[in-house]
Amino acid sequence: MPGTKKVFVKTFGCQMNVYDSERITESLMSYGYTPTEQPDEAEVIILNTCHIREKAAEKVYSELGRYRQIKDERRDQGLLTTVTVAGCVAQAEGAEIMARSPVVDLVIGPQSYHRLAEMVFRAQSESRRLVDTNFPEVDKFQTLPKRSPEAPPLPGQIRSASAFLTVQEGCDKFCTFCVVPYTRGMEYSRPVDQLVAEAQELVDRGVREITLLGQNVNAYHGEGSDGKPWSLARLIDAIAELPGLDRVRYTTSHPKDMSDDLIAAHRNQPKLMPYLHLPFQAGSDRILGAMNRKHTVDEYRRLIDKIRAARSDIALSTDIIVGFPGETAAEFAETLKLVEDIGFAQAFSFKYSARPGTPAAKIVDQIPEEEKAQRLALLQNLLSTQTSRFNEGCVGRVIPVLFERPGRNDGQIVGRSPYLQPVHASGMLDQLGQIFPVEISHAGPNSLLGVIRAA
Ligand code: 5AD
Ligand code: SF4
Repeated sequence: MPGTKKVFVKTFGCQMNVYDSERITESLMSYGYTPTEQPDEAEVIILNTCHIREKAAEKVYSELGRYRQIKDERRDQGLLTTVTVAGCVAQAEGAEIMARSPVVDLVIGPQSYHRLAEMVFRAQSESRRLVDTNFPEVDKFQTLPKRSPEAPPLPGQIRSASAFLTVQEGCDKFCTFCVVPYTRGMEYSRPVDQLVAEAQELVDRGVREITLLGQNVNAYHGEGSDGKPWSLARLIDAIAELPGLDRVRYTTSHPKDMSDDLIAAHRNQPKLMPYLHLPFQAGSDRILGAMNRKHTVDEYRRLIDKIRAARSDIALSTDIIVGFPGETAAEFAETLKLVEDIGFAQAFSFKYSARPGTPAAKIVDQIPEEEKAQRLALLQNLLSTQTSRFNEGCVGRVIPVLFERPGRNDGQIVGRSPYLQPVHASGMLDQLGQIFPVEISHAGPNSLLGVIRAA
């Protein structure tokens, strides 16, 4: 019977995986499946995996252990379960997963999601284990079903006023630490018309904020309506024109591709939010060179000056790796210095993790784990001071907040400021999905508290 079969999707990793999981879920919904948050009631279990750091892949195998138990229990009740591993671990280690985990029926890479539903059905009907990790010629985005009129209730997903939209995928930059060029393939930009149409479908289902996604989103160069390549700034303007859409964001950017028109958009495009995630990875020129980052510390500093000149209140965010092979204590101190000088509202910092197949994994001078942990603790201490300082700077101000979900306390709702901080306020559920001015009364380490003022 249509509508009674259930699909469970679990997502690890970045926002692009969240977007992909949404598309995967919707493609099964188009065959009559209903999303569920309970894997034990699902005919189809999909694990969308991430390969960026070591722990991520370990999590996949422990999760698969759980599914083996569920599959066995369901089999005892005469119920069929098909387990799929999708995402970047699937792409990188497809054969290994098949060998190590007999519970898995299908392994499918991120470029084949337009075939995922069909492959699941084939695995079911033919009782065969299948692997699809090719990089196909056809455009998966063209072939995937249209966005459904309602957001699928994905496990853990509550921000339905806000949606992700992948505009660019893959990367040709080949930073020496990174698996992305191998798991997501070469850089590809979706055409503008396709993206504006999808953005419209999202707005039609009540989305007020869209975050444009790409591993290298500011390298976007998709075909515009005039047949010529358009920059990210032009795409942002085209999407910002949609009535009913209030906010546009984009992530993740590379310093090399931070073009003048994109910087100018932060001055000129009122719907573009004052937030920029711009990873610098390391504060020493020698390490940046070894990482193949293609920019110097000084170039990064000058770029930040230009961005702040365009939009003085912009909230800056970054990614930093500590303990890249050969990084000395003095070079790490340069990372701290750069953080101190710039001042970030938000940051993500990681211990370097050797990824199979990447050039940096072959460097002999790997940093001991304890040393990496010490550096990370020092850095995170500094970063959390900066986040608190940024948050405290908001106290007393009235800030527009897009409310997205109920809070943990009764009578509270939670939304996001333009600077992406979670903001809690007393409010009613019917205020969700709308923007209200909020007077900020308190700042915590990771969120703000305030009072809704009449709009
Ligand atoms: N080890 C540690 N951190 C990494 N990142 C990417 N690859 C690695 C790695 N091998 C971090 C980078 C990147 C973020 C998404 O993850 O900081 O910007
Ligand atoms: Fe993880 Fe990168 Fe794949 Fe995203 S693209 S899931 S961060 S490996």
